[in-house]
Amino acid sequence: MRDLFEPSGDQEVLHEPLGEGAVLLRGFAAARSATLLAAIDSIADAAPFRRMITPGGFEMSVAMTNCGTAGWVTDRKGYRYTTHDPDSGKPWPRLPREFLDLAEAAAVAAGFPGFLPDACLVNRYEPGARLSLHQDRDEADYGHPIVSVSLGLPATFQFGGPKRSDPVKKVALRHGDVVVWGGASRLFHHGVLTLKDGEHPSTGRRRFNLTMRKAL
Ligand code: SIN
Ligand code: FE2
Repeated sequence: MRDLFEPSGDQEVLHEPLGEGAVLLRGFAAARSATLLAAIDSIADAAPFRRMITPGGFEMSVAMTNCGTAGWVTDRKGYRYTTHDPDSGKPWPRLPREFLDLAEAAAVAAGFPGFLPDACLVNRYEPGARLSLHQDRDEADYGHPIVSVSLGLPATFQFGGPKRSDPVKKVALRHGDVVVWGGASRLFHHGVLTLKDGEHPSTGRRRFNLTMRKAL
């Protein structure tokens, strides 16, 4: 089952369903990628990328920062959202307008109108970095979807089910792709396989991912 959606003007985006409430919008953010990457640079100037520590004491291979009213953090005390960057004590940088617009448009395309995120986790993967299967479940209300934007080097995204042991689909995510999951698949497990080395014209040897959520 596939159909075409037009995000703006004549640009066509392929909808690839990943399950009930989950869809890959191929290339949905491609036309705005330069603006998004510039915004990531500004965010990282104010709140630098850092490799956080899991509650079990492991340093994550993915470097992270946040923007929005709330930012996702992990340390020995656990996973949670904070209004301030624990490294600087300052509020997280604002969620840029272009992130909000993209999140809303992608959510509409996926069948979730009226999505207004208050948190954006910014992930930076270098070759060798990976994110093991997990659920996004630190948010207050699972009625809101997750909007996830891929920029730079390609990666293999795993999308499973409600149980960690459920079979996973492997999805190749490229620069400009957006995945949205909500509704019946809101708590489905997902992860990213070890990033392969490569060179991307916009990001060099890196992949960025924006994960927009309504956290509070
Ligand atoms: C995440 O689950 O936070 C990130 C997913 C991705 O990098 O595509
Ligand atoms: Fe996640």
